[in-house]
Amino acid sequence: MRAELVCFNRECRARYAIDAVLYNCTACGGLLEAELAGGALDAAALKQTWRERRMCNVPGDQSGVWRYRELLPFDDGLECVVTLREGNTPLLDAPRAAEYGGLDRLTFKHQGFNPTGSFKDNGMTCGVTQARRLGMRRVACVSTGNTSASMAAYASAAGLDPIIFIPHGNISYGKLAQALEYGARTLQVEANFDEILALVRQLAERLGIYLLNSINPFRIEGQKSIIIEMMDQLDWEAPDWIVLPGGNLGNTSAFGKALRELREFGFMARMPRLAVVQAEGAAPFWRLVNEGGEFTSVPKPETLATAIRIGDPVSWPKALFEVRASNGVVEKVSEQEIADAKAQIGRAGIGCEPASAATLAGIRKLRASGVMEQSARVVAVLTGNLLKDPDYIYKYHTGKLQIPDSGTIVPTFGNQPTIVRNDPDLIASLLET
Ligand code: F0G
Repeated sequence: MRAELVCFNRECRARYAIDAVLYNCTACGGLLEAELAGGALDAAALKQTWRERRMCNVPGDQSGVWRYRELLPFDDGLECVVTLREGNTPLLDAPRAAEYGGLDRLTFKHQGFNPTGSFKDNGMTCGVTQARRLGMRRVACVSTGNTSASMAAYASAAGLDPIIFIPHGNISYGKLAQALEYGARTLQVEANFDEILALVRQLAERLGIYLLNSINPFRIEGQKSIIIEMMDQLDWEAPDWIVLPGGNLGNTSAFGKALRELREFGFMARMPRLAVVQAEGAAPFWRLVNEGGEFTSVPKPETLATAIRIGDPVSWPKALFEVRASNGVVEKVSEQEIADAKAQIGRAGIGCEPASAATLAGIRKLRASGVMEQSARVVAVLTGNLLKDPDYIYKYHTGKLQIPDSGTIVPTFGNQPTIVRNDPDLIASLLET
């Protein structure tokens, strides 16, 4: 299929070549998306082909992104592909978490099983591949931690130079450590995510650096594969709901686009509803969807789920369109709700990072308000690995997790370690009680 870049703004729809180095429409300033055009797909045959590729040792077939390449805008060949065998993330049934959320059943799609531990790898493999296709040497992003970890890994694997901008003091050490280890030039800027994004956009233009934030349409294309793979794993039976956390809203945009394309090309008959969950202190999208009016940003976003500490999400126009197209909803949850839901996901033997746990907290609220039915078939996407933010976990379980200026999180499901003397009798008596 032929692919082009198209302005997302429905009133503009200006078109550009797929190899244009652009992040916004030059006519109206709108967001850009890749559009696949010019040919019908044989859905039944492709479902078969995608299954067969799972058995194959060719790197592109082993990747849970490139396996689905017929739905990606790389129609001129795959010679630039850089893959760390991303995707291939499991669907996990979680009865205990289902009970906590008030559902009969709940399935997690765990993106924390990716090579760098988050869903960003699905998009980054495509973004870095496009950087290579364009002949770019340097790539950059601003990040709350996961995008930068992923970009550092993929750019270094591709032999490109990664430059990372992160908000000083507000990302977890796990993520910062990844960027350093993968060899990225790392700048900790004294500003928040939204302010740094504006800075990086300016610098990318000035210095000819390729920008790999989720404003980059190729990142979004790669993240579509999370949904395509999920549907493949569900034997193309759509669930009632797909639940995900919302920060910069790139993932919401990607999920919605994937669902629309799968339906349009005849891969599935029914559309699941998207449920996007934001943290209360960083919920501009919740406000837009539930209170109406113009989009307004949150100038000082606050949440301990630092991955989604974003007040001015660039992709909100796309995300709004996708939430409406799927008859979706947007929920917001408190810090306490996120922390407790996270501990429950841990106790289910699964675990995730704080932002991911917003999903289960959101489900619990959507059940309580009756928006989601108890018997609904729900897949929640856990976006990042448990080990991304161990500091948060230790503080929660030991009752030391503080919300700046508003108290301490109650360790409702806390699990304190016990310090003991090296004394078998003492330890035996302790374990017998
Ligand atoms: N969950 C995790 C673990 C994330 O890292 C992010 C975003 C999100 C959810 C929200 O996804 O932005 O597509 O709505 N992290 C970005 C980063 C912003 O820089 O790593 P979104």
